[in-house]
Amino acid sequence: MEHVVLVGMMGAGKTTVGKILSRLTTRGLVDTDVLIERSEGMDISGIIDSKGEEYFRMVERNVVLSIDLRAPLVIATGGGAVMDDEVHAFLKNIGKTVYIRASAGTLYGRTSNPSTRPLLRDGDRLETIKRLIEKREKRYLDSDVVIESDDRSPLEIANEIVRELGL
Ligand code: S3P
Repeated sequence: MEHVVLVGMMGAGKTTVGKILSRLTTRGLVDTDVLIERSEGMDISGIIDSKGEEYFRMVERNVVLSIDLRAPLVIATGGGAVMDDEVHAFLKNIGKTVYIRASAGTLYGRTSNPSTRPLLRDGDRLETIKRLIEKREKRYLDSDVVIESDDRSPLEIANEIVRELGL
């Protein structure tokens, strides 16, 4: 059974697109950030603030590697999840990966609430976004499908994913 895995930066629209895609394809939706929050009983900012990013990444890895895969899923991943080699290999192995790509300017516009984006809170947000894209894009581009999301609605993006993957 192949799952659909959405990857990309914070603010790319993975969660919103994931919700629509799960409705369109009658697949279950798993949002890895939600699983992490449930497992820790705390929101993402709280975890990173109190225990640090390294701890957060460890929980993220454990949570992703233990997703219940018995039913076909749409999996919306946190932006940094695939940077872990083991997580990346696992997600590539269980289905089709889709990179929802957005320009730094678009991501900047979509990440204006600092309380829900702990990694973008300090310093110049646009510079941080650019730096993260530079560091991560090679990995993101190692996806089965790349969808450009600038100036497109979540519904359009979800429909394109359906078409591209023949869902
Ligand atoms: C992160 C992205 C966030 C969340 C955490 C770290 C990242 O998820 O996992 O704040 O490193 O890019 P979203 O991509 O769903 O915002």
